[in-house]
Order: sequence, then C-alpha cells, then structure tokens
Amino acid sequence: MQENGQKKKILYSAVQPSGDLTIGNYLGAIKNWVELQEDYECFYAMADMHAITVRQDPATLRRKTLELAALYIACGVDPEKCTLYVQSNVSCHAELAWVLNTLTYVGEMERMTQFKDKSAKHADNINMGLMDYPVLMAADILLYQADVVPVGFDQRQHLEITRDIAVRFNNRYSPTFTVPEAVIMKVGAKINSLQEPTKKMSKSDENPNASVYMSDDRDAIVRKFRRAVTDSDSAVRFDPENKPGVSNLLTVYSAFAGKSVEEAEREFDGKGYGDFKAAVGEVVADALSPIQSEQKRILADKGYLEGVLAAGAERAYRAARRTLSKVYRKVGFYRPEK
Ligand code: TRP
Repeated sequence: MQENGQKKKILYSAVQPSGDLTIGNYLGAIKNWVELQEDYECFYAMADMHAITVRQDPATLRRKTLELAALYIACGVDPEKCTLYVQSNVSCHAELAWVLNTLTYVGEMERMTQFKDKSAKHADNINMGLMDYPVLMAADILLYQADVVPVGFDQRQHLEITRDIAVRFNNRYSPTFTVPEAVIMKVGAKINSLQEPTKKMSKSDENPNASVYMSDDRDAIVRKFRRAVTDSDSAVRFDPENKPGVSNLLTVYSAFAGKSVEEAEREFDGKGYGDFKAAVGEVVADALSPIQSEQKRILADKGYLEGVLAAGAERAYRAARRTLSKVYRKVGFYRPEK
C-alpha cells in the first residue's frame, strides 16, 4: 500500500542471464529498475528460460544467473522492496505459456522481427523455443497481472503481442488478465557503440572495443574510451547528427557524472579530445568500481544470495499460481477437489 492508501501498480521486467551487461544496459535498464521499485510493486526476473532459446553452456548459464542477480542488488535493487527471482524457479511460466500458445498463431510468430533476426543469426538452431519466445514473455508478464512493463525499443513488438494475447484470452473466456502498458524507457540514456557510434552499444558486439562491460576493470575502461571513434573536428560539442562519437561520449559522461550535457560541454570547452576521452574513462571507472566490489561481496555470501532468490521465487510463485489457477479453471481443465 502506498502512503495515500492506494495500491501500487504492478510492474514486471526481466533480463536474460546471457552475455555480459554493458554500461548501456546499466543506464537503460538497471538504473531504471532501481528507480521504479519506489513507485511500483515490482517483479524482476532473471529470464533463464528465454536464454536457452539460443545455445548456452550450462555451467556458465548458472553462474551468470547468480552474477546478474548480485549485480542488480549491487546496483541498488532492493530484495526487500521488490520480488527478485529466477524465472525457471516458478513453474507457472511454462504452464501458462502452453495455454497461451493455443491463442497464438504460427503466422504472427513467424513475422516477429526478433525471431527473423535471430533465425538469420542462428540458422543452425531455429528451434521451437526461439519462435515461441514471445509467448513465454507474454506468460511472464500476464502471470503477475502487470500494469506496466518497462521495455527498450527492441522489445516493443513483444509487448504488443502480449497485449493482443491478453485481450484474446479475456474475450474468449472472461476478463482474466490485466492488459499491460509498455513504458518506453527514458531517452537520453541511450548509449551507442564506441567504435560505430551510430549503432547501439550491444552486449554481443564482436569488436571488444565497441562495448564497455559492467565487469570491465579500470584499465580496460580507460583504454576503450581512449580508442573511441570521434571525428576530425576538435570541439567537444553535442551534435548527434554530425558528431555521433563525441555526442555519445558526452551522453556517457553526463549520465555517469550526474551532470547535464550542457554542463559537460562547458567543462570540456577548449579541451582536446584526448583529455575529454580520458575524463570519460575515469568517471565511468569511478562509478563502476564500487558496484563491482559490492557485487563480488554479495556473490561471496552464498547463503544471503540463495536466501534472497528462494524468498523471491516463493513470493513470485504465490502470485503466479493465483493467476494460473484462474486460467486453468476458465479453459476447462478438470481439477479433483482433494
Ligand atoms: N526478452 C527480454 C529481453 O531480452 C527479457 C524478458 C523476458 C522480458 N521476459 C520479459 C522483459 C518480460 C520484459 C518483460 O530483454
């Protein structure tokens, strides 16, 4: 309950424990999770079931799941305030996905942009899970009766289909699911590649200098910013059209230094790119180093992390089961009384 006595809206988000998160993910997603937990009742999942739609090494997947949970906590996600859990720990996700599959058409899944992209990228492994990915995502969201789902641009289509499926179910049976709204994340924190600054910074970029990872040490961070692509001009000025590299660095600097872009521009007025890039590297390294040590500390405290995830899974299960029971009843599944 909020102070004014109104129930908080429910927010759902999840992240795949595959690949290493970049500072773009941090500014675009993790920091948002931290801010949103104050105003919403939040369910945050490590989406390991989505992750296996492309091949994963089992030991690595398990390790990354824990590392990611620890990272979120280190960044300020508070397991007392929100429900932090691992998707595969709550069996209801797979169960609801099955029912929702029967309200989803093959044709619409084949047309999903991400499915087409991933099929091209993993042509040797176009598995049913890859195609069914949006339905599992719909199940995630609808199980918790989420009002809002913060998503990046690449997930918008998945949220649209989630809404369609929810409406379909509600119409075919009776009102059951909340139809969730997408909250498109704040702009301004969109970080581009350091090597091709008109392209989004990606956790799967093949060029190791293109992305700065949350796990990079100070030397790597400073080196990557020193090598960042700029232009042949020399003014530190925000102009994404003509100076995408410098503008991207200004965005990074202002986000990590907690200053406006204008302030940052003034600060580097008359300074060369060398000094500017060095300063960006330092400010990012300074921001990441306490997060990294906190993450390490949490990971070392196995009992604590296990406790958090066990409690999270239990809370999530209770909420999810309530919805799933309703769904099973509505579709006509028999259930013995005893
Ligand atoms: N597909 C999302 C991504 O890769 C992760 C995800 C899984 C998700 N289930 C979700 C995001 C539910 C929001 C809501 O980013």
